Amino acid sequence: MRTLNKVYIIGAGETKYGELWEKSLRGLAVEAGLKAVENAGIFSKEIEVLYGSNSLAGTINGQENIGSLISDFSGIAENNIPAIRIEASTASGGAAVRQAYLAVKSGEYDVVMVGGVEKMTDIYGSEMIDLTSSVLDREWEAFLGATPAALAAMSARKYMKDFNVPKEALSMMSVNDHLNASKNPHAQYRNKITLEQASNATPVAEPLNLMDCSPISDGAAAVIVASEEYVKKNGIEGVEILSSAASQDYLAVHSRKSIYRLDSTVLAARAALGKAKLKLDKISFSEIHDSYSIYGMIELEDLGFAEKGKAKDLVYEEIKLNGSIPINPSGGLKAKGNPFGATGVGQFVEAYTQLKGKAGERQVKSPEYALLQNMGGTGSTSVVHILGGVA
Ligand code: COA
Repeated sequence: MRTLNKVYIIGAGETKYGELWEKSLRGLAVEAGLKAVENAGIFSKEIEVLYGSNSLAGTINGQENIGSLISDFSGIAENNIPAIRIEASTASGGAAVRQAYLAVKSGEYDVVMVGGVEKMTDIYGSEMIDLTSSVLDREWEAFLGATPAALAAMSARKYMKDFNVPKEALSMMSVNDHLNASKNPHAQYRNKITLEQASNATPVAEPLNLMDCSPISDGAAAVIVASEEYVKKNGIEGVEILSSAASQDYLAVHSRKSIYRLDSTVLAARAALGKAKLKLDKISFSEIHDSYSIYGMIELEDLGFAEKGKAKDLVYEEIKLNGSIPINPSGGLKAKGNPFGATGVGQFVEAYTQLKGKAGERQVKSPEYALLQNMGGTGSTSVVHILGGVA
C-alpha cells in the first residue's frame, strides 16, 4: 500500500442549477457524472469507488440509497464497485470530496468519483421551509419555530448592532454574487442586481430579505479524484487537492460560544491552511458557503480575511472578481444556487475550471490557489479544502 500520495482532481462536470422540473433526481446525477468522466477523459470502468453526496432526497423525493442510484443509472453498477452516500447536511458535498481525498491519499484507490445531487423544487412553501429546517436541531430549534432564515437573521441583528455594520454591507455580498453569476451559464439567477434592489427586496426574516437568501435549487455536480501515480502514468494534468480539513461545532446555535463566529470554519480553515503550508495571502480566490449574506460576512472573518466586525471593509471592492480577494466567482450560493448535496461538489467544479484557466468571462486572473469552504446548516459542520498547482 502506498502512503503520502498526492491527490488530484482530474475531471469535473455539473448541470445547470435552478428550478429544473423537467429533470429527475437520477437524470441530474447522471448528467453531471458523465460530464465529469468525459472531462477527465477516462473510461467509467476505471472508477473504483463512488461517493454520492445528498442531503434531503429521502424526504423530498422518497429516495434513499443515493450511492446505488447514481451507480446504477450512470452505468457503473455493472463494475460492482462500492457506491456510498455521504450526508452532512449542506456540507455533504465537501464531506464527500474529503472522503475521496482520504481514500486516495491512503493508497486504497487510484480513481474515485464524487457525485452530489439534490432536487428540491418539487415541493414548495411551508413544506419546503419545514424541510430546510430539518438541518437544524429539530427538537430544540425547528420545533420551537426557528427556521434557517430566522437563525441567520438573529445572527445578523446582533452582528450589525455589536459592530455597527450597516445592512448595506450585507447586501453587497449578494450584489457581488449576482454579478459573478451573470457570467456563469450554470447559475440559477443570472440577473445582476443593484445595491438598491438588494436592499429593498421582499422581507424574509428582518433584517434579511429575499436578496440575502440562497434559493431553493435543483442541480448536480461531480468530480473525478485520482492518485499521483494514476495522473503521472496517464499524463493527465490534474489540479492538486493540497489539503482537506473538517471540523464540527454544536448543532443548535444557542449552544455555540458566539452567535456570529463559526468555530467549525475557524478551525477547519486554520487546519487546511496549515496542512497546505500556505498563508491566506497566497489564496487567489475563494468559494464560500454564503447560504445567507450574513454568513458570507462572518465567513470572511472566520477564514481570516478580516478581523471580527470588519468584513464591511472588504465587500465593496476587495471581493470582486478583479479585487484583492475574489469571493465566489461562480456566483456563490446566493446566485449560482444551493442544491444542498451538490453545493460543495460544485465549489470544486468551479475551482477546477478556474485553476485550469477555463472559466471564460468570470475567469480570475492567473489563479494559483483556491480555498473552498462548505458548511452544514447554520455552521455545525465546516469542510475546507485548498486546491492549487497543476500536475
Ligand atoms: N433569490 C432571488 N430570487 C428568489 C429567491 C432567492 N433566494 N427565492 C425565490 N426567488 C424568486 C423566484 O424566482 C420567484 O420569482 P418569479 O416570481 O419572477 O418567478 C419569486 O422569487 C418567488 O419565488 P418563490 O419560490 O415563491 O419564493 P418563496 O417565497 O417560496 O421562497 C425563500 C423564498 C427565500 C423563502 C426560499 O428561497 C428559501 O427558503 N431560501 C433559503 C433556503 C435555505 O434556508 N437554505 C439554507 C439552509 S441551511
